[in-house]
Amino acid sequence: MQAERQRIADALPAYDIGEVLGRGGWGVVFAGHHRQLDRSVAIKQLPTAAAADVAVRRRFTAEARVLASLDHPHVVPVYDFVEREDLCLLVMELLPGGTLRERATTTGFAATDAVAVCLACAAGLNAAHVRGVLHRDVKPENMLFGASGTVKVTDFGIAKVLGGADTMLTRAGDVVGTPSYVAPEQVRGGELSPATDVYALATMLYELLSGVLPFTADGDVMSLLFKHAYEAPVPLRDVAPDVPAEVAAVVMRGLATDPAERYPTAEAFGVALAEAGTRAWGAHWLSADGMPVVLGAERIVAPTRGATPPAPAPAGPAASPPPATAPPPATAPPPATGTAARPAVTAGPAPVREQTPAAVPAPERDPARPAGEEPAEEEEPPRRRPAVVAVVVVLVLLLAVLAVWLLPRVLTVYGAPAGGPGGDPPAVTAT
Ligand SMILES: Nc1ncnc2c1ncn2[C@@H]1O[C@H](COP(=O)(O)OP(=O)(O)OP(=O)(O)O)[C@@H](O)[C@H]1O
Ligand SMILES: [Mg+2]
Repeated sequence: MQAERQRIADALPAYDIGEVLGRGGWGVVFAGHHRQLDRSVAIKQLPTAAAADVAVRRRFTAEARVLASLDHPHVVPVYDFVEREDLCLLVMELLPGGTLRERATTTGFAATDAVAVCLACAAGLNAAHVRGVLHRDVKPENMLFGASGTVKVTDFGIAKVLGGADTMLTRAGDVVGTPSYVAPEQVRGGELSPATDVYALATMLYELLSGVLPFTADGDVMSLLFKHAYEAPVPLRDVAPDVPAEVAAVVMRGLATDPAERYPTAEAFGVALAEAGTRAWGAHWLSADGMPVVLGAERIVAPTRGATPPAPAPAGPAASPPPATAPPPATAPPPATGTAARPAVTAGPAPVREQTPAAVPAPERDPARPAGEEPAEEEEPPRRRPAVVAVVVVLVLLLAVLAVWLLPRVLTVYGAPAGGPGGDPPAVTAT
């Protein structure tokens, strides 16, 4: 290992190479430190055999370029990469908060947190999808927490780099990726799309909410792959009855065997999840536990105390949840434009928000003002109008009466003929 560390140090002279952070099926991850920038990093080394393959290295370069251009709060930033001889190194942000798998098996997640984490992952995945990058290996081991508790998607495109073809099986018959989260079309060598990552994300959420996977096969990988490809998953509420029906319906649609029956994009899946969460747990659900979820320009950190929740969110993709075993066609409601869960945010009371530095502020209400107070001022003028008209009419009538009473007296004083209108006031004529 010392020799390996030295090889990496030679390839990355600006960095000190530290301990091994972890090992996966596709290589080793080292801690590192950029001396001049004083920045801690994680360095992923692809397996030597893979790195020696020219085709793998070409794909690695192509993917690294796209990854480096991704800038999303829920995607691990890539700082550097090196491809030389039989070394392929990816330098990325150090995420010291552990993996989603580790958290799930130690502290576990409340249902709201599980959904919030998946919402964040959906936002990160969507950012890559719109750049034409599929993840292909979404699983709890590839979701890591940063120092501030923000979850980030890692290992984008690595399955493609190593697997090459659009199937999980390599020519040698090995499985590239993780069979428990593999989408049916990945097993069958079908066309992959964002719905492929949606399937894996729905599997991940199913597992977080229930503690079990939708398919199991006692370690028999081929049997497990067959089930993913051709069988319907066990309905989520059969294994986790406490999961709200709205949320379970979204998860089950994400697990549809036919990709055309799933949510077509990670964004559509996120929107449906956010709306289902709002219906199940109320408008505060996303901010109540403080799970950082960055959606577009805003980071939700806490609810506003005393805010009056507005009316429930308008019905969306999950408004009429499909039966778990017969998901509706994907021609159902199109994804909303914008970021994955904006409906949940705008549907809820104004949470305390932090603007992310690079973001364009969203054209939303004043965050300091609770949502329920907003329309009051604008509706006030129409209610005042009838009262104003009544006061004016009364004033006009009073003026008319006064004029009728005063006129004869004024005429008398200025020499109007006696017997004229109003009579002859004695006090004046006596003098
Ligand atoms: N950016 C990072 N910051 C901190 N630790 C990391 C980072 N990336 C990976 N790790 C650590 O390295 C371990 C191995 O990661 P790796 O991606 O190689 O394997 P994996 O995801 O468990 O499996 P697979 O090989 O299927 O992806 C992770 O479990 C994690 O502990
Ligand atoms: Mg990984």
